[in-house]
Amino acid sequence: MRHDLDVPAFDVDDIHLDDLRRRRSAKWQYYPADVLPAWIAEMDFPLAEPIARTLREAVDLSDTGYQWPAELKPACADFAHDAWGWDFDPERVTVLPDVLTAITQCLTHLTAPGDGVVITPPVYTPFFHVVAHAGRHVVEVPLIRLTDGRYSLDDEGLAAAFARADVTAFLLSHPHNPTGTVLAPDELAMVADLAHRHGVAVISDEIHAPLVLPGASHLPYLVVAGDDANAVALISASKAWNLAGLKAAQVVATERTTATVTERIPLEATFTSGHFGVLAAASAYREGGPWLQTVVEVLDANRRLLGELLAERLPLAAYVAPDASFLGWIDLDAYGLGADPAAALLERGRVGLNPGPSFGTGGDGFVRLNFATSPAILAEIVDRMASVVQ
Ligand SMILES: Cc1ncc(COP(=O)(O)O)c(C=O)c1O
Repeated sequence: MRHDLDVPAFDVDDIHLDDLRRRRSAKWQYYPADVLPAWIAEMDFPLAEPIARTLREAVDLSDTGYQWPAELKPACADFAHDAWGWDFDPERVTVLPDVLTAITQCLTHLTAPGDGVVITPPVYTPFFHVVAHAGRHVVEVPLIRLTDGRYSLDDEGLAAAFARADVTAFLLSHPHNPTGTVLAPDELAMVADLAHRHGVAVISDEIHAPLVLPGASHLPYLVVAGDDANAVALISASKAWNLAGLKAAQVVATERTTATVTERIPLEATFTSGHFGVLAAASAYREGGPWLQTVVEVLDANRRLLGELLAERLPLAAYVAPDASFLGWIDLDAYGLGADPAAALLERGRVGLNPGPSFGTGGDGFVRLNFATSPAILAEIVDRMASVVQ
């Protein structure tokens, strides 16, 4: 959904390190002050004004009690309809604090202790931990790295894994973190078909979906799989509107999983969601469109700028601009910095990137770089990387 914006919702050149370093979130606190952080998926942009207003009004009202998701559920369903043509009954939505809590709840209700859960490395690091902490085990089906540096699902690998007796679920990152891949309709149809044939439940983590960039479009897994699928989708305003600390993600169930998942999620789990998260997410979905459009334009420019800066300053780096979101997945193997180039870049360049190996198989030699910042700060990040390899 495009908005007619005469002026951007914010000026990306008006983002300054002095202000960012006053933030008390994980991104800005984890490293010592001389390190430039470009790691965890927080954005450096100013909060969307409608969300800031909603939160200010809540503070002014001393409206700081427990959350009540009555407005969020239809707001989220209306956003999904407008953004992706995905229609679901708002009553199929369950609000939980965050996507990781939602994955744990879904694994608990869709699988049994000891079961195998397929993931597709290199993939979002906590997927490994959340499966293990739920008492299930990870079954890896690595993505295939194509000759042009893009990634796709391994259909033969998935078919073999889904046929295993221990495998009962597939935890999908769609769009994919860290590769930025937006899965194609035929890949999603292949997953849905295999899942149906082998009785495998699909948990589709679509947290990055509002940030699909020009040239790609997001097709929700449940649109492909249909209402009788043994599947759930996890969505959230937390990545696209930078609300991760406020705590409100949404589980969308099908008709089938409404009975097996939604109705079994305990009230105390939903009640740990944040009231400010629920208010902010509803505001994001209802009023955050113009701001999101500016963010998408900035990220589109930054993903290209990152390619130009790397070509100029680190010409041996292999980088394919992501189809979605703000994470650059960069192969630095040619620089001979070992399996974990992020360690050398931190030590000698004072720049904080996510280590490729933490994303599992296929991550050696890579770093993940967060480019949701100003062009000037992005240039400084690449300068610091370049200082190590020159
Ligand atoms: C693919 C993916 N899933 C889940 C999360 C975490 O989301 P939450 O903070 O809602 O648990 C992230 C955070 O970056 C992510 O990239």
